[in-house]
Amino acid sequence: MEFRIEQASPYALPMELLLLADPSPEAVKGYIAAPDVRAWSAHAPDSLVVGVLLARPVPDAVARTLEVLNLAVRPEAQRQGIARALMNRSLQYALREGFARMRIATADSSKGPLALYRQLGYAETAREAEYFLRHYPEPIFEFGRQAVDRIVLEKRLSAGSIQAPEPI
Ligand SMILES: CC(C)(COP(=O)(O)OP(=O)(O)OC[C@H]1O[C@@H](n2cnc3c(N)ncnc32)[C@H](O)[C@@H]1OP(=O)(O)O)[C@@H](O)C(=O)NCCC(=O)NCCS
Repeated sequence: MEFRIEQASPYALPMELLLLADPSPEAVKGYIAAPDVRAWSAHAPDSLVVGVLLARPVPDAVARTLEVLNLAVRPEAQRQGIARALMNRSLQYALREGFARMRIATADSSKGPLALYRQLGYAETAREAEYFLRHYPEPIFEFGRQAVDRIVLEKRLSAGSIQAPEPI
């Protein structure tokens, strides 16, 4: 599928897509309202939003770090490179704005996302044991596995950080 990526207002992003990546509506509403959050949307040729990415600077990070808070692609549009292109677009922004690192956190059960982040050069920097057991009222299952630990991955930025060509 052809798609294009645009910088977007966080309020313009479809809530059902944001909830694909983060099951907590309270958390999503919280970071959408943050003044320093940045958002990108991927659009199908008919303009339907097929993917979203939200990112925000990490307060008090030792090196200036941009954290991806939410990344989601509609199920029918998955495995076509949309998430990779959204990650690259936010990385271009981070390079332009002088960030030194990008960060993303996910569950130990998130097999697909973890494969994507590792492919893009992210490496594990921290692990919060039993995070998903302590912070979510219901157990979360994905890829046939329960989410237990929260894994933080980071990537150092340099001019050669963009690894895949991006469609227009
Ligand atoms: C994770 C997600 C954003 C990936 O979006 P996508 O557009 O399908 O990803 P891409 O097509 O760019 O995938 C790039 C690579 O990531 C890996 N990958 C992505 N999804 C995968 C999956 N379900 N299983 C295994 N590997 C996967 C593959 O290596 C893939 O390359 P390939 O298709 O050439 O094998 C999407 O599956 C999604 O929205 N999931 C639900 C929400 C979610 O879990 N968000 C992340 C929260 S941290």
